[in-house]
Amino acid sequence: MSTSSEIQKAKAILKSDGIVGLPTETVYGLAGAFDSSLAIEKIFKIKERPSFDPLIVHISSIDQIVMLAATWSPTEAFLAKEFWPGPLTIVTKKTSAVSDRISAGLETVGIRMPAHPIAQRLIQEFGKPLAAPSANKFGKTSPTRADHVRAEFKNEDLFVLDGGDSEVGIDSTVLRVEESSPKISLKILRPGLITPSDLREKIEAWSPKELVISSGATSASPGATETHYQPTIPLVISPRSPSQDLVTNIEKKFGIKALSRYSELNLNTDPRLAARDLYAKMRELSSSGSKWMFVRRSNERQGEIWSSIWNRLEKAASLKVD
Ligand code: TXA
Ligand code: MG
Repeated sequence: MSTSSEIQKAKAILKSDGIVGLPTETVYGLAGAFDSSLAIEKIFKIKERPSFDPLIVHISSIDQIVMLAATWSPTEAFLAKEFWPGPLTIVTKKTSAVSDRISAGLETVGIRMPAHPIAQRLIQEFGKPLAAPSANKFGKTSPTRADHVRAEFKNEDLFVLDGGDSEVGIDSTVLRVEESSPKISLKILRPGLITPSDLREKIEAWSPKELVISSGATSASPGATETHYQPTIPLVISPRSPSQDLVTNIEKKFGIKALSRYSELNLNTDPRLAARDLYAKMRELSSSGSKWMFVRRSNERQGEIWSSIWNRLEKAASLKVD
């Protein structure tokens, strides 16, 4: 775990328009002051992130909302009260203080209050919100340990705060509230640990309005591309252990030497634990000497948290077989 003096060092880097690796409870972020155009440029550059993909902004207290959000509806305020600090990103209309670079030209900004004590403390002591995408190269597996971030950016002089293993393990739930009386409509742009049922349970106990929750990314979430979270060796989704024929096909398809070693990505049966370990296991297998990995699609792995995990696996996979 990072010490107080390391947090001071991170603060000094941020003050001079630099960026740092930041632990959060979901995944590690690559953080810079939201109002530093230099820091924001560095984030896009080292992440190799296309400019159409907006960054989310992290806060440590609710009074920082006024800097970022031009509107903050009763439903948004309620969700923030119930789920923050935590793994929920709320997309809302932005103020002019949030640059078009951060929002990728959209009129909205994604905001999250992370629960990790180091993230909280850094933002609080720095005194300003931090823009931070996940600390991986664009399209690659998100990091859940400080070492993952160091390895991903080994050619950069990047200071990384160590907050241990990220507890949630998958990236936050991203949603947009559409307030159209008499209904409350939520659009889930990226599924996560906070599920539609969690949202429904809280909102229905609070508001008599009809609640409509829809899922699925649209062009409203430009980062929700078809492939994402990809490990450095091919990941294959298969309902069973690969047959010899399938193995041969995979070797041909990916230009892998015949009879090369491959591994199974084994996930815990408890979806919370599976989510926590998902990315770390994908990285571990990628550097184990195996040339490809497979994960078993099974009927037992169903339910809302599993569907968030499958959302990541589907995007990370190079091949899906029936
Ligand atoms: O858990 C998380 O959210 C982590 C930690 C570091 O907080 N951050 C994260 O950031 O996953 P990133 O940039 O890797 O993913 C944010 C997602 C992207 O798919 C992006 O397109 C979407 O949120 N997003 C950001 N701002 C948006 C906006 N204004 N409208 C729609 N989607 C937005
Ligand atoms: Mg990401």
